Amino acid sequence: MQNQASRPLAWRFADLLDINDIQQLQDAFAEAHQVAAVIIDLDGAPITRISQSRLLAKQAHGDTVVLPPHGAAAVDHGERAWTGAATIGVDGVKLAQWRVSRAPNMAPESFDRICGFLEQAAELVSHQARMQADLNEERAARVIAEADRDRLEQHIRLAGGMEAVGRLAGGVAHDFGNLLTAIIAYAEQLTLRLDDPEDPREPAVRILAAADRAADLVRRLLEVSRHRQGQIGAVDLPALVSETATLLEHTLPANVRVTHQVLGDVRSIEGDGSCLHAALLNLGINGGHAMTRGGDLVFTIRERDFDDGPHVEVKVRDTGEGMDNETRRRIFDPFFTTRAEGHGTGLGLTQARSCIEGHGGVIEVDSEVGRGTVFTITLPVSRSDQRSRRAAG
Ligand SMILES: Nc1ncnc2c1ncn2[C@@H]1O[C@H](COP(=O)(O)OP(=O)(O)OP(=O)(O)O)[C@@H](O)[C@H]1O
Ligand SMILES: [Mg+2]
Repeated sequence: MQNQASRPLAWRFADLLDINDIQQLQDAFAEAHQVAAVIIDLDGAPITRISQSRLLAKQAHGDTVVLPPHGAAAVDHGERAWTGAATIGVDGVKLAQWRVSRAPNMAPESFDRICGFLEQAAELVSHQARMQADLNEERAARVIAEADRDRLEQHIRLAGGMEAVGRLAGGVAHDFGNLLTAIIAYAEQLTLRLDDPEDPREPAVRILAAADRAADLVRRLLEVSRHRQGQIGAVDLPALVSETATLLEHTLPANVRVTHQVLGDVRSIEGDGSCLHAALLNLGINGGHAMTRGGDLVFTIRERDFDDGPHVEVKVRDTGEGMDNETRRRIFDPFFTTRAEGHGTGLGLTQARSCIEGHGGVIEVDSEVGRGTVFTITLPVSRSDQRSRRAAG
């Protein structure tokens, strides 16, 4: 409830009370007590029509009372006729005056009693007005609060949008960095081999493949900026893992052994090959970085059946330094990195997770300090492939 000091005092009668209701109340009061009645505003202008005006006419005798229904004059000219009054107000601020006029044959004691009732009736109306004033104020406060909230929400949306754009730009820069590392490494091999009798074509083919991925990345960026999804199609994960492993074999230090194995039949999934390739590459590069003294990076692919259908599971295992709980808790946070300044953006795993989850999949991590780390990705087998397998089997 508002305190009085903060209550705006500009309420008008019509803001707080329904004139028709009040008219009915006034009519009923006047009829019950056989008095004329009217409610006037602070300037003396009538708010209601006069009730039981015939009693007023008798009371005013020969006075030139211009009788109702309309006009301040009707009340003014009959001024002497209005012998009783009670104030209607809110928190001590007057809104109106409820007047009554004694019938000519009425005993003064009876009229006093009626004036007492009038006080009570006016009190009741004042109470109603006060409640409405509170309601109006609450409503006004709510409108202000809603406007504030709308402004805040818009601000958050804008800030969120900026963050998303920032993340996107960071993610693209990050993936581009990875691809450029590959392009540069193969180009270096190519320059060395050009003087060599050995076939220089292989690094050139790799450069082309990495450049293709880069072009794909740019296409994806353009698609995102047009609010469209990347190119969705059947993705053969064993083939994608094999391609990623080959890329890593050539870019990670020689003391890191990269292998991959496919366990049993693995059906394709439906998704965006470029984003999945970038995710696998990010996991592989992280594993490589964790093995500064060399080790094994192993990709394992197989199918698994869960309650909600068949999934393809890809495990990326390294024998590196592992992570403590505190690090493991934060690795998927955007910009979280433990790498030296200028060496990591902390967006690799953010990209990987958003890509996997975008495919309705899950990415999990298991790690032990000094022993190594396993990232497990599970992605649902595409529906069309599920059907074809069922039809064939
Ligand atoms: N295989 C891993 N072994 C140990 N720690 C890891 C491994 N993968 C990720 N981490 C930890 O998670 C952090 C975040 O990884 P993320 O790929 O998001 O960023 P980054 O590798 O630090 O930087 P960027 O990927 O931009 O080069 C890493 O800094 C590292 O501390
Ligand atoms: Mg990384």
